[in-house]
Parts: sequence; C-alpha cells; structure tokens
Amino acid sequence: TRTTVGIVGAGPAGLMASHLLARVGIDSVVVDHRTRAEIGGTQRAGILEADSARLLADSGVSDRVRREGRPHAGITLRFGGENHRVDFQALVGENVWLYPQTDVFTDLADARERDGGDVRYGVTGTRVTDLATDRPGILFTDAEGVAREVRCAVLVGADGSRGVCRAAVPEAARTHFLRAYPFAWFGVLVHAPPSAGELVYTHSPRGFALVSRRTESVQRLYFQCDPDEDPADWPDDRIWAELQARVRGADGFALAEGPVLDRSVLRFRSFVCEPPRYGRMLLAGDAAHTVPPTGAKGLNLALTDARLLAEAVERAVTARDFRHLDTYGPRALRRTWRAQHFSYWMTNLLHRLPGATAFDERRQLGELASLVCSTAASTHLAEGYTGRVVPARR
Ligand code: DHB
Repeated sequence: TRTTVGIVGAGPAGLMASHLLARVGIDSVVVDHRTRAEIGGTQRAGILEADSARLLADSGVSDRVRREGRPHAGITLRFGGENHRVDFQALVGENVWLYPQTDVFTDLADARERDGGDVRYGVTGTRVTDLATDRPGILFTDAEGVAREVRCAVLVGADGSRGVCRAAVPEAARTHFLRAYPFAWFGVLVHAPPSAGELVYTHSPRGFALVSRRTESVQRLYFQCDPDEDPADWPDDRIWAELQARVRGADGFALAEGPVLDRSVLRFRSFVCEPPRYGRMLLAGDAAHTVPPTGAKGLNLALTDARLLAEAVERAVTARDFRHLDTYGPRALRRTWRAQHFSYWMTNLLHRLPGATAFDERRQLGELASLVCSTAASTHLAEGYTGRVVPARR
C-alpha cells in the first residue's frame, strides 16, 4: 500500500494526527498491534486542558466532550488535613474537563471510521524501515495473517514509550533525558459515588493520594506506593484503609467506599527523546516523551504533538518541500519541556520522597501554604494545570 503518512500507534496521538491530516486532504494508514477493544478497555488519564477539549470539538472529532465531559473550574489541594481550593476560573479564566482518555479514544476511533480512515488494529510483527530515505515504510502482518507493507512520504511514531519506532532510531541520532522516581501510583477504579465535587490532590505524612472520578457511580482513585508493589497483595479493605488514612483530617473528610473494579500500579518517570524526529519519521506522544501523571499532562501533550505534527506535514506536502518537517521538533519540544517542568514540580510538591527528613516535609507544607496564600503562586499552578498562560502585564 502507498499512502502519504504511515502512522504506528492508534492511541490519541496517532488517531488525532490521522484525523487532522484527513481534514486537509492528506491520506494516512494507521496500524496498532492492539485490538480496538484492548485500547478502549485500558484505564488511562482523565483530564483534558480546555485547548484539548476545543481541539476535539472544533476539528470535528466529536462534540461529546461538551455534552458529557464535566468542566472543572478548579482543584482542591489537601494538606495538613484541610482542603484549599485553587480556583482556575478566577485565576486564569479557564476550566479543565474531566473526560477520560477511554472516551477520547472512542471518539477518535469512531470519527476515523465515520470518515473512512484506514486504521488497522490487531496487527503483529510491526517494523519500520528506510527511515532516512524519502520512502520510509511499515512492515507488519495484518489481523488476517497477511504480510503487508505500507510505503509513505512521512512516518509517524506514535506507538508509546515501549514501541518500535523510537527504538529504530540509531542511538547516535537521539539523546535521552530521564528522571526516575523512587515511587509509583496505585490506581483503582471503584464502584461508589464521587467523594468530592472536584479533584482532590492530597499531601499526607503517609504519602500522596488523588481523588478523581469517572461517572456518578464510579470513582478513580490513586495513592503513592512502592514501584514494585504487587496489586495482588491489596485486597479491597487494605486499599480503603490506606486511602482513608491518607485523606483523614480534622474536618472529617472521608471517601465514599465501594467494591474495587480494577487495580494496577502505574509507572512513574520523566523522559524526553531529542530530537523527536529521525529522517522522515516524527515521534509523537509517549514515543517522544513521558511525564509522571501528577499534572495530568500526558494525554494533552499527545494531542498537542498531533496538532503540531499535522501542521508541519501539511506545509511539507503542500509545498512539496520536506524541510518544513524541521519546524515540528522545536515547537513540540518547547511545549514538552514546559509540561515536564510542571509535572516534575507537582510531583515533588505532593509526594513523600523516600529519604526525606522532617525538615523536607515541613518545607513541602510551607510551599503548599505559600501556594494557596499567594495569588501569584496559585496563578502559576493554574497556568500549568490548565495550559492557559496569562500574558505578563508590562
Ligand atoms: C486523573 C489522572 C491524573 O493523573 C490526574 O493528575 C488527574 C486525574 C484521572 O485519571 O482522573
């Protein structure tokens, strides 16, 4: 098969790139080794920046985010056993949207199907080849067992942090920037009504906890844990005891409990590959970078990459000049490093750092107090979280 853009990975980055390219008349083929049900059934992120929600609605993917997503005008920071609200709407005039990645995926997959997009799920043995030539290719075996070859002008590597695309770049042609953390998140999906109106990011002597939700009857909760914690060692009552202990305080706040539907340990790292490009291959989403989940940036970065990438490819194809691909890396990296800093900062602000002294914990509480007392400091958080930057006054 010949196509203009070959895309490896049918997650949000790959499907959004395919969708945006189709809008400007550029054809693409997307392949993924997972089935559609596997991708759609994996619990992932939950928060969209306002610009991400706008991109979904305005580019014609779906307006379901507007109808079924929930605007959140702020978050709660909980520390010292008390709640402190950070009002994004008042600080920067912007909301975020609670709209799970599983729904973003469904909307994108439905839109590609509706628009006649070529998306092949459940393929095996995917390899990318001839990346430094003007005819790169994707080799794979399709779901029916037939060997296939897609030749394209531009290849997009959107196959996640452990995919084949980044790994195919010669080591001398990429630099990795990595920060590991000595902790992880234990994530649970529970059948119980919401415990709070908005997200609650909790700092406690026992470590971080986060209260989020999926629907009116399903909550999404996380708590900091050891990276090699085994979910099998955590029966429901142990999970609830730990979560309640982390959020407990003089105000009597407690979580609504219910049966645990899903439990898993989430990897936690900060990573960037530079440049996010090799020859005719552009890397997008987790293939290019990973952020720790604390700032809810991963999905938003993937959608931004897709937008910037589609713009660069459109210019290159329209002008028949592939030097326009050069604009992608610098633009994507500027956004990536700002989100890296934000995610790193939120993470270090709220987690119990192994080896931390009593001084370190008090210093964190001092920083949290400054954050909620100072309009300048809470505006910084609101800008990072919503992605909205209020231009400085002169
Ligand atoms: C969710 C996940 C996050 O990492 C976060 O920062 C906020 C919410 C969620 O899954 O709902």
